[in-house]
Amino acid sequence: MNMSRRLKSALNQCAATADEALRDLSVFREDHGQAVCCSYSLDAGGKRIRPFFVLQSCAALGGNRHRAVPAACSVEMIHTYSLIHDDLPGMDDDSIRRGKPSLHVVYGTENALFAGDRLLLEAFRTLITTDLSSLRVRVMLRRLVSAAGACSLVGGQFMDMYHPDTADRSWTERMVSGKTSAMIRVSMELGSIVAGVSDGELEAISEIGEDTGWLFQLTDDILDVTGNPEEMGKAVSKDADMGKWNPVNELGVDGAKKLALENAASISQRLDSLSGDWSVVKELIDYLPERRK
Ligand code: IPE
Ligand code: IPE
Ligand code: MG
Ligand code: MG
Ligand code: MG
Repeated sequence: MNMSRRLKSALNQCAATADEALRDLSVFREDHGQAVCCSYSLDAGGKRIRPFFVLQSCAALGGNRHRAVPAACSVEMIHTYSLIHDDLPGMDDDSIRRGKPSLHVVYGTENALFAGDRLLLEAFRTLITTDLSSLRVRVMLRRLVSAAGACSLVGGQFMDMYHPDTADRSWTERMVSGKTSAMIRVSMELGSIVAGVSDGELEAISEIGEDTGWLFQLTDDILDVTGNPEEMGKAVSKDADMGKWNPVNELGVDGAKKLALENAASISQRLDSLSGDWSVVKELIDYLPERRK
């Protein structure tokens, strides 16, 4: 399945918006120390899927995309910090990220730790600048803190790191929900909150975001077996070597691909029942099972 022109252009546009706003943040215009490290990883050309979900969720509900830009930058900064730490020798030990040597390979482990710490904090500083009422910004901050926290991103990475030799589906779902879905879910939530979503609909969007995160990680795990390192911009065939536990161990590649298609169909259907125009998001969801990077 080829990516439609419309989806390609929406992805490019969201990436360009996020890139421009990130480069504009004063901290990344410093030319020394951790700022250089932060820019190295941020500017390395990630797909900007999470900013896409922030900006498109806001647009889908008729919100002002411009107001969602700080949230788009925030989620990308937290995601980038998580990749910098994820690649460290004590974690997944990956030396290529986003098609370039990983940060610790160029600047050392200590600088990679500091750059990650700094990106995490800058994310919250940036979110606070959102042009909305302080009550609304507080709601957004609370959601982002919790998505990045011990029961989500940090907790999921911990589970992934100290994984058992085999696990049941409920363990796998909790691990993926933390390490990946939480940040994708919160991306959709923040964009929707900027657009003034109702509490009831936010709950439905949240569940869709959770399942989208599962689908995204499932396809990442499939690509670890079937992907091409040049297209992916990172090493492949690592998970099995490291004894990682993921759904592909349980289902095999074919079973995982089938599940990805089923998940995409279910998410697509639920997007149809939301108010607003989610058609571009739907196009991305339908494309995810086929993605090559
Ligand atoms: C990689 O995320 C980590 C996972 C959660 C699978 P992405 O595939 O979004 O990485 P970038 O941001 O495009 O580099
Ligand atoms: C990582 O999952 C998710 C993060 C929170 C960073 P992976 O470890 O599978 O991501 P890649 O394959 O290194 O990008
Ligand atoms: Mg990992
Ligand atoms: Mg990794
Ligand atoms: Mg992976």
